[in-house]
Amino acid sequence: MKIGIVTGGGDCPGLNAVIRAVAKTATKRGWETLGIIGGYQGLLPPQNYRVLDYKALDGLLVRGGTILGTANRGQFSAKVGHGETRQLPQELLDETKRGMERLGISALVSVGGDGSLTIAQQMHEHGIPIVGVPKTIDNDLAATTITFGFDSAVACATDALDRLHTTAESHNRVLVLEVMGRYAGWIAIYAGIAGGADVILIPEIPFRYESICAAIAAREKLGKHFTLVIAAEGAKPEGGDFVTSGAQQQNREARLGGISTVVAEEIEKRTGKETRVVVLGHLQRGGSPTNMDRTLCTLFGAKAVDLIAEGRFGQMVAHTGKSVESVPLAEAIGQLRTVPLDGGYVHAARALGISLGD
Ligand code: F6P
Repeated sequence: MKIGIVTGGGDCPGLNAVIRAVAKTATKRGWETLGIIGGYQGLLPPQNYRVLDYKALDGLLVRGGTILGTANRGQFSAKVGHGETRQLPQELLDETKRGMERLGISALVSVGGDGSLTIAQQMHEHGIPIVGVPKTIDNDLAATTITFGFDSAVACATDALDRLHTTAESHNRVLVLEVMGRYAGWIAIYAGIAGGADVILIPEIPFRYESICAAIAAREKLGKHFTLVIAAEGAKPEGGDFVTSGAQQQNREARLGGISTVVAEEIEKRTGKETRVVVLGHLQRGGSPTNMDRTLCTLFGAKAVDLIAEGRFGQMVAHTGKSVESVPLAEAIGQLRTVPLDGGYVHAARALGISLGD
């Protein structure tokens, strides 16, 4: 038995740990694993892959990124604009199937976020034996209580807030930290709480500048002459729109980014306080996975191979909050999990007097 593994979409910490877990579990069963290079494209001629034998797995548990490379654009892109789905042409799916047959691969593990898993579902419907593993720092897939990469991104954003805290305090400044997360505020609210932010702006709660400035003024009154604001890249003002960076490219999702500068300029104008902006950007996607992500990736990888052994294709491994199970890919894709407004994080933030900008 020979299986393939492919990593797609934006990279994130823990991809290599999943590759390792899949290949080790497969080897233990006496199977061979091929790592497909450069996303699904590697299955097409001239075909690009590497054999993942034991030697190839050295050091992968802690290594960031993906040794297989990844892609979030081109002919295999299933998400465009602000998350709209695109159907891949039948000829492309046929070619992919033929590519797998040529390599002797009888099943594929697709590790990716909503975009790559949407492709996986289309492949499944086309008769390709495939299972999915949910990856994204955004933590925005509804069918699993957590995606891998998220904890590592939160750790990075929290560390950034800790560092910004001391410099903001020294200069009596307002520091605005922009984090990723696309249309969900998970990274912002987790890191905001963990890093002691005073204002947390998330896409789920449109903000008002009056509220943000009132929170800054209230701190001034208490003798706190600095303020830490964390803004999700998808945060937007009431009645306003997402801030995007760069022009919309063909067959690509819109690139969010820039809200922190808009917010900081408005704060400075309204309060007269000196502000500074830090866009954390791809720092939060790079580097070694946290211990929690390493564990999650290992459980996910082992479960993916179990699914293949049981012939349960078209499934995605998922965490239920108690254990790792699986759900049909069809139910997992296109279902955005956002921060619930009546949930514990929003409640705790409000209870502590953290401003959510509304
Ligand atoms: O989906 C993961 C993510 O990091 C988002 O948080 C962010 O909006 C996007 O990818 C950035 O993509 P790129 O690497 O193409 O700039």
